[in-house]
Amino acid sequence: MVSTDPATDVDPRKFITEKGAALNYGQLRGLVAKFQNVPGVIGLHGGLPPPDAFPMLSLDIKLRDGSTVTVGENDLVQGQLQYGIHPSGLPSLRDWATRHVADLHGAPRPTTTIIVGGASQGLSALFSMLFDPGDSMVVEELSYPQVSECLAAPDRINLVPIATNDGGMCPLALTKGLEGIRKSGTQPFPKLLYTVPTAQNPTGTNTGLERRKEIYEVCRAYDLLILEDDPYYYLQFPHGSGDVPGLRGLPRAASYLSLDVDGRVLRLDSASKFLAPGLRLAWLTCHPRLAEVAACAVQTQTLGACGVAQAMAAALLSSWGEAGLHDHLSHVQRIYAERAQAMHAAAQRHLEGLARWSLPRAGMFLWMTILGVEDASQLTAALVEAKVVVAPGRIFHARSGLPGTAVPCVRLAFSFETPENIEEAVARLAQALRLHRDQKS
Ligand SMILES: Cc1ncc(COP(=O)(O)O)c(C=O)c1O
Repeated sequence: MVSTDPATDVDPRKFITEKGAALNYGQLRGLVAKFQNVPGVIGLHGGLPPPDAFPMLSLDIKLRDGSTVTVGENDLVQGQLQYGIHPSGLPSLRDWATRHVADLHGAPRPTTTIIVGGASQGLSALFSMLFDPGDSMVVEELSYPQVSECLAAPDRINLVPIATNDGGMCPLALTKGLEGIRKSGTQPFPKLLYTVPTAQNPTGTNTGLERRKEIYEVCRAYDLLILEDDPYYYLQFPHGSGDVPGLRGLPRAASYLSLDVDGRVLRLDSASKFLAPGLRLAWLTCHPRLAEVAACAVQTQTLGACGVAQAMAAALLSSWGEAGLHDHLSHVQRIYAERAQAMHAAAQRHLEGLARWSLPRAGMFLWMTILGVEDASQLTAALVEAKVVVAPGRIFHARSGLPGTAVPCVRLAFSFETPENIEEAVARLAQALRLHRDQKS
């Protein structure tokens, strides 16, 4: 293994593609940004709609607790409804996110945080600047299909799947995989490792701090970026009884970002799972140069995350303060804990001897191994007959399209349905498994 000790800053130029380096805000946007709202200047240069043509004036957000948060006319009409919000994000939300990330993850070296239109836009922006067709990236063997199918596959990015166990990606398997590629020279050496460290999607695995340290060291040794996609960070809850962490009890200084002595981690946090996915809001924290290029990519894609959504989130977070966010997260975590427990209990009642699983401690999904099947897609007919839909494990496999890839697991979402529907769904799943068994014999 090649050692890179002591810490050296990554060279962003090594990772940003030619296309990424060529991304820019455009001259016209530069002109608009420079002179927008400068007192005394009459601007005839930009294509801005007149604010008095906007039909909306202000925003009253009615909350479930009966209170109202208002985004005033001045902010909304003069700012967030208009073109020209900085592509790095609405300053008030961006300041909040910067402080928030520093507080929870405290990166040991300078980073920049930018607002993006959901983690999905962050991923898309990063792919557009870091990968050329034919490049390679490392993924967990079973991983988030939006990345493997929708981003990597169309750009012909080679996936290097690495085995995982209950503790997350296996560092030894990672080293062996990278060493194999280095020796064989048959494909471009991976530039980046993509990982979902909390409640990994689909397996629900939490990668512990010691494991993260080991993975980080391997990535240093082979000079890989680490893309830490952590949308389930806020959805952590205790195993069984015990109080939920809220904000104050969430693990601090335990992310890849907090281990990042040389600027190789790109961390994505998302508001989707703790505010609402329809806001399309997330924040990316990374090396300042990588953030600068990512902001250009966001600008190219959408001119920035939605201004109204950012205004709503900023107003809400500011009115809550830390105490309000703690209470809100606690509330959300209790809902998820209750539903996870409901699914676990229903599975104990109906699936004993048919499947194996463990009680989730974060996220939205229970990962279940079905006993006696080679691949869970074989269950489709029986599931349709029992009127229950689950996600077959194979669709998450990095090699899902290749013959011979079999995954005897299913991903069950406990997040959306009520405990009563969860009970019924699990009973139907049991019925389908028995049906399938009978049909086979
Ligand atoms: C691992 C992972 N990353 C990203 C996302 C999408 O997040 P966002 O709604 O912020 O785009 C999801 C949502 O399911 C996810 O599971």
